Amino acid sequence: MQLSELRNICLKCTDCPLHATRLNLVFGSGSENTDVLFVGEAPGKNEDETGTPFVGLAGQLLDLYLEAVGIARDKVYITNILKCRPPMNRDPNPEEQAACMKYLDRQIEILDPKIIVCLGRISAQKLIDPNFRVTQDHGKVYRIDGRTLMGTYHPAALLRNPGCKGDTLRDFEKIAETIKGVTENG
Ligand code: URA
Repeated sequence: MQLSELRNICLKCTDCPLHATRLNLVFGSGSENTDVLFVGEAPGKNEDETGTPFVGLAGQLLDLYLEAVGIARDKVYITNILKCRPPMNRDPNPEEQAACMKYLDRQIEILDPKIIVCLGRISAQKLIDPNFRVTQDHGKVYRIDGRTLMGTYHPAALLRNPGCKGDTLRDFEKIAETIKGVTENG
């Protein structure tokens, strides 16, 4: 299956109530021929309006970190655990996450990335470890099912807690190094 076919399936999905309140599906964006996948939490207002992940304030902050460590946004793929916006930007509830995970699982299968970077707790708890704690586990490197995974602070959390920005920059430096190592050595 191609990502475009999967996107068409997502467009018709009614497995949770969020399809009824979204403006646009936010399926994912970036290179479909990449070794690197970034996974956030759920679309916010700007993403819902445009259909593109990480284009609001949090996305602008993500762009700064990517640029600071030399990762070109158009050379990676970016998506979220949820493809539809939860009203009022509340956290995705467990039913919504469960309903939507099959689409992320298929995206991972199709893209077959060597490294997955989880942005924030919800993504890291889904993809790395249900007990992942960002304050404790950010920047660590995990090997799961033949892939390399890392988790770091969600950029929206940094807007609320600027004190974690230094740690996040160090995480992104390590993410860039890990991408280099993983993509050069297979
Ligand atoms: N926060 C997310 O987790 N994802 C987006 O796409 C935007 C904000």
